Order: sequence, then structure tokens, then C-alpha cells
Amino acid sequence: MTYINDSYLKLTAGYLFPEIGRRVKKFCDENPSAKVIRMGIGDVTEPLAPAVIAAMHTAVDELAQRGTFRGYGPEQGYDFLREAIALNDYQARGANVDADEIFVSDGSKCDSGNILDIFGHDNVTAVLDPVYPVYVDTNVMAGHTGPADASGRYGGLVYLPVTAENDFVPEFPKQRVDLIYLCYPNNPTGVVASKDMLKRWVEYAHQNGSTILYDAAYEAYITDPSVPHSIYEIDGAKDVAIEFRSFSKTAGFTGVRCAFTVVPKALKGKTRDGREVAIHPLWNRRHCTKFNGVSYPVQRGAAAIYSPEGKQQVRETIDFYLENAKLVREGLTKLGLKVYGGVNAPYVWLKTPGNLSSWDFFDKLLNDANVVGTPGSGFGASGEGYFRLSAFNSRANVTEAMERFAKIV
Ligand code: MLT
Repeated sequence: MTYINDSYLKLTAGYLFPEIGRRVKKFCDENPSAKVIRMGIGDVTEPLAPAVIAAMHTAVDELAQRGTFRGYGPEQGYDFLREAIALNDYQARGANVDADEIFVSDGSKCDSGNILDIFGHDNVTAVLDPVYPVYVDTNVMAGHTGPADASGRYGGLVYLPVTAENDFVPEFPKQRVDLIYLCYPNNPTGVVASKDMLKRWVEYAHQNGSTILYDAAYEAYITDPSVPHSIYEIDGAKDVAIEFRSFSKTAGFTGVRCAFTVVPKALKGKTRDGREVAIHPLWNRRHCTKFNGVSYPVQRGAAAIYSPEGKQQVRETIDFYLENAKLVREGLTKLGLKVYGGVNAPYVWLKTPGNLSSWDFFDKLLNDANVVGTPGSGFGASGEGYFRLSAFNSRANVTEAMERFAKIV
């Protein structure tokens, strides 16, 4: 028989969201008349912006004609999209990112996992706890960890707890780390990073020769003008950070699939024999070998969000979700629950009532209120006793979910 990758056997549970889906399906099969409201996985509900639809239609029509047909595109993405991203998402904010530092892809989940291809196996890696599970699971799969302990923490990873006790601000690792995953606005807690906090991480990375893997998938939800949208708004970040961005939550592309990763040309790593090597060509090589680009109509659709009407339309949808988040925050606060996040982010993080465990509260909410959320412990040991609600939903569902909460809390 063929050898398998033994590291997969170290994974302690199924991926969080399919596990929730499995439990919800079982509940629905057993309770077919229940009207379940899903506030678990952060999946968008509102239709694509008209500007996006129009651009995608036009692109499909181009593919229908011999004269405008296109086959393989550039693996890194078409220039029209890379240039629009560089201009609107970075240069307009004073972050000096060039179009050729941007790699268009089919998702930040994939990119944040795939990035490990270009880093060595001996790096010490830090993650916040709770954390988006992909960062941890992909390190386990890559063989970068030992087995999990009783709390689900894997040997070899450095966990930085973020809880109400430290205002969700992680301490710097006590030991030197090579790779640091940061996600702001944060999934799952919904808190943001101040400019000062990011400055300190960039300083840490400079002092320790570390690389920051910065996930900014939710940056479009930032409304506070003092909060940075990109790590590259911090001086010196281009020497030490890779940034992941996505159209999923910005423009409702969870099913359409388009994202991008910024790998600055200034970013360097080192070989085992101590030579400095630029990271950009490595990612370019990986991307060209293992990826054939995002489809042309999808890239045209993504570029349309940077047109004046596209900008306004996606803003309206983001504001709609932010209003949902506000209703959740206010509704739960009125019920006496402790809530966090949900201001510059689409996620509300709450302390479970009555000190219930995260999964016990999940079951109670599902059984008694037919509402689905995400147990905080699914994001890590320090998420135990917390719970995440997603604001991606219709207004009617959010309002009804709050009414149902009032009956069970
Ligand atoms: C979440 O609910 O955490 C996200 O939807 C997951 C993802 O973006 O992959």
C-alpha cells in the first residue's frame, strides 16, 4: 500500500464549518418543520452588485466571439485587475504596493494555506487563539506541528491567547517566532488592530527576522478612519509582511471565487546555509506551476467594484451587513450578554450565557431557538466559553434571530 501523509491523522476534528453543517443537517432531518436561521459560517446572502453582473455579462459575451475570445490568462491575474487593486486598495491609502506585487487567486483560504509551500519546515509559527482554523490545520497538514494536546493545541505552534481578559490584544511571543499569522478585522472575534498595534508587530518582525502573514479579508468592514485597512499602511511592512485579501466578503464573491495576495518584492527569506532570497519569485514560481488563473469573467466582475457605481453598490451591501451586526450587538447587549466585535467587522463575538461551554450553547441555541452560530472553541482553546454570530443574513432573519434569543437567554 502507498504511504499517506501521516500528518493528516494528527488533525483532531473535521474542519469546523462542515462539522457544524453535519450537526445542523442532522437536526433538520429530525425536525423537518423547524425554520433554522443560519448565523454560523460567514457566507454572504445578498446578490452581486449590478456593476459586477454587467461586467461579467459583457465578459461572457466577449468569450462568445472569435475576435475577443480568450484562453489562458496570466496566472498572476490580468493587468486591468491588478492595476485597479494597486491603485484603489493601496496607493489611494498611501501604501506603496505595485500591480506586479499582486497575485490574483481563487480565494484567501487557499492562499493562506498554499503560502506554506514556499516556507521551510523548521519555522516556528505563532497564531492567535482563537484563530481562523485554516492557519492551524494547514500547518498540521504540512507536518509543521506535533500532535494535539487535550485542549486541541498542537505541539510546536506558539499560541497567543486573545480573550476579554487582555482586551483581545495578543502579547508578543515569549520565544522568537519566524511566521506570525494576524487577521484584522479579526475572524472570529470581530476586533480590529490599531495602527499602533500593527506598528509594534512590524517592529517585532524587523527585530526578529520574522514574516507576518496578514489576513485582511474583512478590511472593507472598517468604518473607523483611524483603523488601518492594510498592514502596508505601516512603514517598513513591505519588508516583513504578506497580505491576503478577498472579494468574498467585500463584494459577495464567496461563490464566485476571487481574491489576491500581495507579496512585496522587498520581502526576503533565508536558505538553510544563510543566504538571503527574495520571496516574490518563489511565490510567482509556485503560482505559475500550481495555478492557471481566475476566469476572465470573474476578474472583470472583480474589477467592476472599483468603478464609481461599483464602489457605491458594494458599499451599500457592506453597510447593510454592518447594520445587521449592530442589531445583533444591541439585541444581545439588551439581554445582558457580553458582546465584542461587530463594529468594524461582520462578526459578533459573545460570552456564552450561564458559563455554558461553546458547544453546549451551540446545541441549546439550535434546539431551543433553531438558530445556528459557531462555537468559539472551534477556533481554539481560548475560544471556549465564547460564541460567534455572523451578520451575513437577511434583515428579517437577523430580527427574528434576536427575538428567538430573547426567549431562551
Ligand atoms: C468564516 O465563517 O469564518 C468564513 O466564512 C470562513 C472562510 O472565509 O473561509
